[in-house]
Amino acid sequence: QQHEKDSLYIVLNYAKNYYQNLLWQSDEGQAVGLSYFKERGFKDNTIKDFELGYSTDAWDHFTKDAISKGYQQEILEKAGLLIRKEEKQFDRFRGRVIFPIHNVSGKVIAFGARILKADKNQPKYLNSPETEVYHKSNILYGMFQAKTAIRNEDTCFLVEGYTDVISLHQAGINNVVASSGTSLTLEQIRLIGRFTQNVTVLYDGDAAGIKASLRGTDMILEEGLNVKVVVFPDGNDPDSYVRQIGATAFKEFIRQHSKDFITFKTELYLVEAANDPFKKAGIIKEIVESITKIPDPIKRAVFFRQTANLLQMDEGTLI
Ligand code: CTP
Ligand code: MN
Ligand code: MN
Ligand code: MN
Ligand code: MN
Repeated sequence: QQHEKDSLYIVLNYAKNYYQNLLWQSDEGQAVGLSYFKERGFKDNTIKDFELGYSTDAWDHFTKDAISKGYQQEILEKAGLLIRKEEKQFDRFRGRVIFPIHNVSGKVIAFGARILKADKNQPKYLNSPETEVYHKSNILYGMFQAKTAIRNEDTCFLVEGYTDVISLHQAGINNVVASSGTSLTLEQIRLIGRFTQNVTVLYDGDAAGIKASLRGTDMILEEGLNVKVVVFPDGNDPDSYVRQIGATAFKEFIRQHSKDFITFKTELYLVEAANDPFKKAGIIKEIVESITKIPDPIKRAVFFRQTANLLQMDEGTLI
């Protein structure tokens, strides 16, 4: 079992080097992959720090190369790098830029791969499947690169996407990890909890992002961590916003717009429900439900007091 995992780590590391070499050394990699990253504003150092790569648009260039180097087809398949259909076999990642995914100790365990141009017949990102070394629900993208900063700052920024992590690093914000689009899991929250008790959710400023933030904050509270939320102007994610306004203004925006979860929920809902007492009562109940998820009785009491003040309600009634 351990032996097989080690084989997977080795072949995944080989693949990472292969995709990196293509990006930096081949004409196609430079013309297509590197210029894609540069157009997104990624600097050379950033591209190297995150070990980004490029996969050529051919059926089996990687597989052929790896087999010629002595890697077994079976291991390539178990690593999620090779797809076998009937008699045919081909590379999983083709014609995409590559984002290696590392575990907490820095080993490559999977890849995310983005298409270069929007195409309605293909998913924007293609990711490794679950393997012996990649359990998606246990992983936060960027944790290896972020963990020291998370400890030092005693806060973790949680974003949705690979490029959000990378752009924020480039802007000097290193304590950031991504849930990679899927809904946040308990394992991911516990992983953050190994480094800090404070989470600030920076999800995309669209309906899906806000919905995911609401669900995420309740789970984080339930795990006993402290949670704040920042909502970005409509249509922006941290990557697009930091590029738009610059690193300094972005940090200031975060500082000014971090809201505790009650203020976040209240502002989100109560504004539209202000004239409807039935709606308002329903929302107050939801906020109270969130508070009851906090395991610590003192924190709970503080939030009941704050909610009572904010909503001009009797605290006893809320409790
Ligand atoms: N995602 C995925 N598969 C998709 C779409 C999204 O796995 N088809 C994951 C990726 O990890 C992605 C994250 O969800 O980074 C957030 O999705 P989205 O906001 O759509 O992408 P961005 O990260 O903003 O990517 P980009 O800026 O390159 O469009
Ligand atoms: Mn396992
Ligand atoms: Mn999104
Ligand atoms: Mn984006
Ligand atoms: Mn996004």
